[in-house]
Amino acid sequence: MQKGSGKKAGMRVWLDGKILKYDDAKVPILTHSLQYGSGIFEGIRSYETEGGAAVFRLRDHVDRFFRTAKIYSMEMQTGRSELEKAIAEVVRINGAPHTYIRPFAFYNDDNIGVSTEGKKVSVFVAAVPFGQYFKASKGIRCKVASWHRIKSDVLPIEAKASGNYLNSIIASTEAKASGFDEAIMTTSEGFVAEGAAENIFLVQNGRLVTPDKSSAILMGITRDTIMKLAEEIDLEIEERQIHREELYTSDEVFFSGTAAEITPIINIDGIKIGSGSEGRITKELSKIYQDAVHGRIKAHADWLTPIKFR
Ligand SMILES: Cc1ncc(COP(=O)(O)O)c(C=O)c1O
Repeated sequence: MQKGSGKKAGMRVWLDGKILKYDDAKVPILTHSLQYGSGIFEGIRSYETEGGAAVFRLRDHVDRFFRTAKIYSMEMQTGRSELEKAIAEVVRINGAPHTYIRPFAFYNDDNIGVSTEGKKVSVFVAAVPFGQYFKASKGIRCKVASWHRIKSDVLPIEAKASGNYLNSIIASTEAKASGFDEAIMTTSEGFVAEGAAENIFLVQNGRLVTPDKSSAILMGITRDTIMKLAEEIDLEIEERQIHREELYTSDEVFFSGTAAEITPIINIDGIKIGSGSEGRITKELSKIYQDAVHGRIKAHADWLTPIKFR
């Protein structure tokens, strides 16, 4: 198996209750979840705050992880509080305040066969130092993918499961091959759904508009955060089905996500959005979001789980 390279080789991860060196956490190449995409996961961030490092909305991410496991009847030996502690421990032990944290549950079994019956479920947690997800800091260019977003009669879209990401990968690959930064997916009915790993918001006449639950979206925790923060500055928010052409005529468009944070979208399908640069409301929300994740909004201190570096 390929060895951990560079910084990863020095990393420590948590696997089924044990802290291991990255290179010592190994699985057989026939592992079920590697073959069939049967893993489930979360993507969480930790940030530097005035009081030290802290994990953002840890409980909400762990809740979604366990909801995904329930959907797939995945029986883990790891409980909620054990997982929360493991996540905090992995961030602490690796000593970097800004990380992307990946809890992952998978069928740790190398018997051929799609059935998961009787197969052991393992859980790992890794945390890698992480900065900005998209390189274009002033805004990205997106393409509406020819691939539609999967929907719940095919695969549970509210589950954050590995297999779902083949849909994201094929759409994103298409967008990148055409010279764009990211894909925007629509539902099979043609309504706007989301990015490959991001929710989407539109700004129309000073109001926020975002696809509703019926638009085949993952119910993002950043999406929820933004909606709460927007309410606090009296921005009106509308959750509804969105026509593709509204993307082009909106004043501003941005992505939201744990990795993407708030990323302005300045061009879609070659059409300039608004003024063609980051819009005023996107900028304002992005600042407030950064304040929240860095612990500068006292009223939202409960969104942060402090990590004690020794
Ligand atoms: C498909 C998809 N949609 C939306 C999101 C944004 O969700 P969150 O804000 O919880 O990170 C993600 C990222 O996890 C995702 O993978």
